[in-house]
Amino acid sequence: MIPLIFLFLGVLQLLPSCSGRAVCEDVGPLTTLKEIKEEIAGYQDAAKAIIDLAVCGKAQNRSFERLALFVDTVGHRLSGSKNLEKAIQIMYQNLIEDGLENVHLEPVKVPHWERGQESAVMLEPRNHPMAILGLGSSVGTPPEGIIAEVLVVSSFEELQRRAPEARGKIVVYNQPYKGYGETVQYRVQGAVEAAKVGAVASLIRSVASFSIYSPHTGMQSYQDGVPKIPTACITVEDAEMMARMASRGTKIVIQLKMEAKNYPDAESFNTVAEITGSKYPEQVVLVSGHLDSWDVGQGALDDGSGAFISWEALSLIKDLGLRPKRTLRLVLWTAEEQGGVGSLQYYQLHKGSISNFSLVMESDLGNFMPTGVGFTGSDKARAIIKEVMNLLQPINITQVLGNGEGTDINYWIQAGVPGASLMDDLNRYFSFHHSQGDTMTALDPTQMNYSAAVWAVVSYVIADLDEMLPR
Ligand SMILES: *[C@@H]1O[C@H](CO)[C@@H](O)[C@H](O)[C@H]1NC(C)=O
Ligand SMILES: *[C@@H]1O[C@H](CO)[C@@H](O)[C@H](O)[C@H]1NC(C)=O
Ligand SMILES: *[C@@H]1O[C@H](CO)[C@@H](O)[C@H](O)[C@H]1NC(C)=O
Ligand SMILES: *[C@@H]1O[C@H](CO)[C@@H](O)[C@H](O)[C@H]1NC(C)=O
Ligand SMILES: [Zn+2]
Repeated sequence: MIPLIFLFLGVLQLLPSCSGRAVCEDVGPLTTLKEIKEEIAGYQDAAKAIIDLAVCGKAQNRSFERLALFVDTVGHRLSGSKNLEKAIQIMYQNLIEDGLENVHLEPVKVPHWERGQESAVMLEPRNHPMAILGLGSSVGTPPEGIIAEVLVVSSFEELQRRAPEARGKIVVYNQPYKGYGETVQYRVQGAVEAAKVGAVASLIRSVASFSIYSPHTGMQSYQDGVPKIPTACITVEDAEMMARMASRGTKIVIQLKMEAKNYPDAESFNTVAEITGSKYPEQVVLVSGHLDSWDVGQGALDDGSGAFISWEALSLIKDLGLRPKRTLRLVLWTAEEQGGVGSLQYYQLHKGSISNFSLVMESDLGNFMPTGVGFTGSDKARAIIKEVMNLLQPINITQVLGNGEGTDINYWIQAGVPGASLMDDLNRYFSFHHSQGDTMTALDPTQMNYSAAVWAVVSYVIADLDEMLPR
């Protein structure tokens, strides 16, 4: 998942849906909300069949087991890596073998960065090797490393106040975790802000809701005209310890070595498969997750699980012999972690047919026990989504929260297309996010089967309604 968007939107993430606001009864010139409610109530049997197949039937555990085989075989899938290339070829075969339609790859140029070997050792006040992960797109250090004294700050404001002390130092950010959306700015802009005041490197406290001494990597951005300094994340534990040492007036010296390097852009692909609509094949409900990951753990949660429950949604619908009126399109994005590179290219290629996109969906916030969906769209569209979520009463996952944004669907949402994001326990998600802990062990087949059920019911019913979702 990508920081920049969360920077602005993360704060809204958990706001309740627009309670209190009047919901317009009239959803279109032809159809009243009452009529649509009746139409949606007619999907109870279909929803029940999807839920039964996902959680009790022969499909039980399928998305979990498919994902386990995939990530155990391929491993993590960094943009520009051989692993990602292999992952895309495997998924292409998987989708064809699953009997989905119009399976194809759409070429995308993606960033290619490699971390190489890296280390950080505290030399003063005592010798202490630290766990680090270089941040995506960071430059490396000279081969002998950088040895410098540390300046610990807890915020950008403190850095500004103490700017004269920063020259020639390694700035360590010990910013408190105030939710991903708010805190991730330290990862994204930490190096630039430190370089502006003359620092030679920066280390950030990992942006994580919980830590057992694990660094959490992610993307960072340089700025034109500001020196590019090496930057990495450290553990919450080491950041707090250095803050304590600094507050006692103890001098801290670190040696940082990073081989990180940026290479020319690489070839990659967005992976696409469909169930073609029976009546309005040009009209689309897009269901998605991203196939790339960071180069740590297995990328099982982020976003293997989102990609695989999106695939599962189409598999479930196909297995039940259902074919919605509109096309259900699965897109497995490439290079999401580098800033939604694959999804931007997809938007630019396909925005000409934006009027035929009914709903864009993305699952990229983990697949723990889902609580519902986040939704962005008009009040009219929201009222319809609420009715559709009522079909999930049998598994009690009916919430419609305030914000449907996701890195890969935001281009569409900002251009007015309704968007939905699968919601679950974000605190749990950001305990594993972008760390070596992002493996199958963090996932649970029961919770994935619920996620797939929600995803399949919402995408199927919206794709099959008589009319597109109102804007
Ligand atoms: C699904 O996974 C659970 C937990 O791993 C296991 O107990 C159960 O037997 C599996 N069910 C099937 C049908 O494979
Ligand atoms: C949208 O789909 C309709 C048919 O449903 C088609 O006639 C029209 O050309 C499409 N519009 C765009 C912009 O692709
Ligand atoms: C249904 O889910 C809500 C939260 O979305 C929870 O408060 C409630 O207790 C659940 N009901 C049952 C019967 O599990
Ligand atoms: C999937 O969810 C259902 C809940 O309806 C549960 O009964 C079933 O055991 C789950 N499957 C697995 C493999 O846990
Ligand atoms: Zn992600």
